[in-house]
Amino acid sequence: MSIQAVKGTRDFYPELMRRRNWIMAAWRRVSLRNGFEEYDAPIFEYPDLFTTKSGPEIASQLFNLVDRGGRSLAIRPEITPSLARMVNAKISSLPRPIKWFSMPRLCRAENTQRGRLREFFQWNVDVIGSDEVIADAEGIYTAVDFLREVGLTPADVTVRIGSRALTVSALKAAGLSDESVQAALPVLDKRAKVSDEEFRRLAVQAGMSGPQIESVCRFQDCDDLGALAKAAGGSSDGEAAVEQLRQLLATLRAMGAGEYCTLDMRIVRGLAYYTGVVYEVFDAAGSMRAVAGGGRYDNLLEVLGGPKVGATGFGMGDVVLGLLLEEKAKFPADVDASSVDYYLIDAEETCFPRVVELVGGLRGRGASADFSYARRAVGKQLKEANRRGARFAVIVREDGVSVKELATGEQRDVTAEEFLASAEGSQGNR
Ligand code: HAM
Repeated sequence: MSIQAVKGTRDFYPELMRRRNWIMAAWRRVSLRNGFEEYDAPIFEYPDLFTTKSGPEIASQLFNLVDRGGRSLAIRPEITPSLARMVNAKISSLPRPIKWFSMPRLCRAENTQRGRLREFFQWNVDVIGSDEVIADAEGIYTAVDFLREVGLTPADVTVRIGSRALTVSALKAAGLSDESVQAALPVLDKRAKVSDEEFRRLAVQAGMSGPQIESVCRFQDCDDLGALAKAAGGSSDGEAAVEQLRQLLATLRAMGAGEYCTLDMRIVRGLAYYTGVVYEVFDAAGSMRAVAGGGRYDNLLEVLGGPKVGATGFGMGDVVLGLLLEEKAKFPADVDASSVDYYLIDAEETCFPRVVELVGGLRGRGASADFSYARRAVGKQLKEANRRGARFAVIVREDGVSVKELATGEQRDVTAEEFLASAEGSQGNR
């Protein structure tokens, strides 16, 4: 019987695992240098946590399970609701702003396609407890800091910034009721992802009339900050949302991230809990799905039983990011190579016990060391040392060792004791 891996999942063979670790090491490094602390949450929760405020799309993608006591559970499709639950539980003792990051494994029962799987990793960076634009700016800056860290330039990727608040103003100005506004938002989010005809069909289904669709499309196509408030109907809420965007862009420019960012009112976001600034990161050619998405969600903590506390942040998945890094050749050449500090070789079979002893000594000193289980010719073992990406091949004889640096071919002959005393590890085990 041969059992296949489940559709939409990945087997992380060592080559792929090295890439995942390389991405995650950069996520963690960038988070820490931007002042975020790491947290995690359970892989499953009660389904209500995900169905209360995230919207119908994600609710329809839940992997549901029932525990042995008959309770319904769901595997997390995102971590933001768990974060809100965790913060709510300790809100009075947590100093604000809370700046936390996480790199959870998530599952969504999606239609799998390029860049979309059923299990993936997602870097989450969130600031909770601040209503200030600077908190939104810090989220976006941290995303940009990462893109730069892995070598992606403004020619490769763009952060597209919209405003849920402004979009709501535009919909209200076009005459939609509060209820129709909620139905229209996910449709507007789809506009850039589906054909014109499909968009119109969905918009009509959501209760929008022809002139309403025209008016909202005109607003979405406006990329001039000066003209936006008017395009959104000129309300005071709209004016305030435009002022926030103005401040946000100025702050991002001041922080040195401005060249990555552009206004785009077609960005609405699919999740229902966003309330203010929203953004998505795309490849500049626009040929892939979003690399990252986020925004301000000022009501989520309250809806989940906590106080009204401002919150903002984003999630970046590893799948589209991996495709982009591959396409732009940004993975470092040695991410594909396994590596070890020392590869020990017995010059003769009688030296093998000495090899094992030295391997133990090296590992005890924190260096990485490996060797062949089978007794083979020195030439074959040297070949293996190269394949393992060893820095040094160490040929162990009865009367001492030859330490050969494989990159340079340089060799020195010393006693086993001298070798061990001077050995050091270079790892960073990738
Ligand atoms: P999201 O837009 O659903 O937002 O996901 C963010 C990113 O996760 C996407 O841009 C994509 O890179 C990745 N992603 C989502 N679904 C999949 C999938 N099926 N396969 C591969 N990658 C995927 C959220 O999840 C929000 N909770 C983010 C957030 C944090 N907002 C505020 N804080």
